[in-house]
Amino acid sequence: MKTAVVGATGMVGQTMIKVLEERNFPVTELIPAASEKSVGKEIMFRGKAVKVVSVKDAVEAKPVFAIFSAGAGTSRDWAPEFAKNGTVVIDNSSFWRMYDEVPLIVPEINSHVIKKGDRIIANPNCSTIQMVMALAPIHRKYKIKRLVVATYQSVTGTGVKAVAQMENERAGIKGEMAYAHPIDKNCFPHGGSFQADAYTTEEQKLIDETRKILEDQTIMVTSTVVRIPVVGGHSEAVNIEFENDYDIEDVKKLIGTFPGVVIYDNPSKNEYPMPIMAHNRDEVFVGRIRRDHSREKCLNLWIVSDNIRKGAATNAVQIAEYMAANKLY
Ligand SMILES: NC(=O)c1ccc[n+]([C@@H]2O[C@H](COP(=O)([O-])OP(=O)(O)OC[C@H]3O[C@@H](n4cnc5c(N)ncnc54)[C@H](OP(=O)(O)O)[C@@H]3O)[C@@H](O)[C@H]2O)c1
Repeated sequence: MKTAVVGATGMVGQTMIKVLEERNFPVTELIPAASEKSVGKEIMFRGKAVKVVSVKDAVEAKPVFAIFSAGAGTSRDWAPEFAKNGTVVIDNSSFWRMYDEVPLIVPEINSHVIKKGDRIIANPNCSTIQMVMALAPIHRKYKIKRLVVATYQSVTGTGVKAVAQMENERAGIKGEMAYAHPIDKNCFPHGGSFQADAYTTEEQKLIDETRKILEDQTIMVTSTVVRIPVVGGHSEAVNIEFENDYDIEDVKKLIGTFPGVVIYDNPSKNEYPMPIMAHNRDEVFVGRIRRDHSREKCLNLWIVSDNIRKGAATNAVQIAEYMAANKLY
């Protein structure tokens, strides 16, 4: 299948190309697209150099799939152009996620929502994906009432410029700033931009997208997004209040048998998930599973995953695999 990757030179786009290769997605022709400044650059796919083209040229090539990771503005402007030509767009940006008619998909959870003829499919935010992967199996049985979330997010979540900022700071080089503050030896409670209600856009995504993916608008969510100087993946401390009381061993069984989720939870051996172990892996790791003694029917989890893999590239390729297997293109 002819497949375009829009944003092919970026943090997510480069991993997308790697994941297409690794998972042996049946790409007959890869069309890497990026901004005008990258047109003509070469990227490697299956051992061969492929030239980066403009987004306009990628539209005209009429690929079966166009996987986007080039920011919300590019998705807003170009996804409809691909869709008009019959291409299925799988979009990593936030632009289309909350449109009612656009499916927001984590394949292990809600691929049933995709219909034949859908032309824009949204890939959720990285922090949301890893959280709902751990929550979906326990929500189905015990029904989640409320979530209190704090994230500890990797700089890779802000793209190549943010990683460069951290590396420059570590090397003592004055370079371009991706954040408002130094990130090395620091952390800040700021992801995305601030809304009028003092929450950030990244915090709002965790609220809205969780409800949409779990198909339950009654779940109450409050969150604090924090950026920390690591590259391996995002970590999350999640406190859950259930409607019904739960059995802790059953909770562990439900989470541990959910596809794509691994429990790593041996406190006596100092074993718990960390970005250093999640890096370059596709699984979502869950540990520190324990009852919240301060309140009935409440549970604490620690969830870690590589935001560039399951949080972006792998999830998007899994959506394409599902649509290809079910002839939904
Ligand atoms: N990083 C994550 O964890 C993550 C997770 C989920 C979703 N996302 C989303 O994925 C997108 C990309 O993130 P990233 O981390 O890969 O960022 P990045 O490293 O900064 O890469 C951005 C990519 O978009 C391209 N681009 C920028 N402006 C463009 C334009 N006007 N037309 C065509 N291409 C353009 C860039 O091309 P040039 O190299 O030519 O500038 C580059 O390929 C964002 O929407 C982000 O929200 C990221």
